[in-house]
Amino acid sequence: MTRPLVSIENLTVAYPLGRRILGDADMLKAVNNVSLDIPRGGFVGLVGESGSGKTTLGRAILKAAPITGGQIIYDNGTDQFDVGAMSKRQEKAYRKHAQLIFQDPYAALSPRMTVRDIIAEPIELLGLTKSRAETDEMVRDIASKCRLNLEHLRRYPHAFSGGQRQRISIARTLAARPKFVVADECVAALDVSIQADILNLLKSLQRDLDLTILFISHDLSVVAHVCDHVAVIYLGEIVEAGPTRQLFANPQHDYTKTLLAAIPSLDPDRKSRIPAFERGRVDVTKG
Ligand SMILES: Nc1ncnc2c1ncn2[C@@H]1O[C@H](COP(=O)(O)OP(=O)(O)OP(=O)(O)O)[C@@H](O)[C@H]1O
Ligand SMILES: [Mg+2]
Repeated sequence: MTRPLVSIENLTVAYPLGRRILGDADMLKAVNNVSLDIPRGGFVGLVGESGSGKTTLGRAILKAAPITGGQIIYDNGTDQFDVGAMSKRQEKAYRKHAQLIFQDPYAALSPRMTVRDIIAEPIELLGLTKSRAETDEMVRDIASKCRLNLEHLRRYPHAFSGGQRQRISIARTLAARPKFVVADECVAALDVSIQADILNLLKSLQRDLDLTILFISHDLSVVAHVCDHVAVIYLGEIVEAGPTRQLFANPQHDYTKTLLAAIPSLDPDRKSRIPAFERGRVDVTKG
């Protein structure tokens, strides 16, 4: 059994609630004692209702949320990072390994930069190349892997549709060749007709680039389509995790059962019908 690429142990991310008067401020545990392994090459879904802590967990792995307890270890066999305890130098190195795919391709792309410059920026910021020609080659390579027309590299983002912009955004995220990406609701802002296109692209990129993906979504039908593993988060705690097929066919936790019962649903307000559940012990089969 190979080591997981990302190993999360008893992770807690807490934010202060309101003003501190005496002693410690009350804390909101956005992520509470979460343990989860993300296998190398995995396409792991993270599902749960709004406010359950999905984004916070994803951000913590990218060192973009405060780790107040527990540990996140990234280990690709060659490089190892203890995400909560990195020096500035290690943080910079870690950014070459782990990146975020944005939800909103409109907000993520600067309107004043050409597509070429948008994709080139992370390569330049991380100092991965020695010449403009070398950068251009990396840009063209990732752009064609993301099925972008190379003629389009000279254009500006406004010239493109939502689906094309998301492909530009994905090319930018992958430009520096990270091995792990968090995709946070990366198709939620797109027309349903385009979603499948982007999901298929992610699938093929995962194989081509040996990527490991944490795929955050509130849409279980999307998760069923692309993810090989899934973790269910409820009020900051993972209540259930396992292979997607198995977990969807035989959900153990009442919360998972209710989430599954809600699809397909045409009720835009369905999360309001999800009742409160007992918070069970975190029981994630490790390894
Ligand atoms: N920077 C912050 N400061 C204080 N509280 C925060 C912060 N970020 C998130 N929270 C709180 O943490 C909880 C989890 O939020 P999070 O954004 O992780 O949920 P989510 O599952 O991604 O929800 P959604 O599906 O709506 O994106 C929420 O109660 C939220 O208000
Ligand atoms: Mg979120």
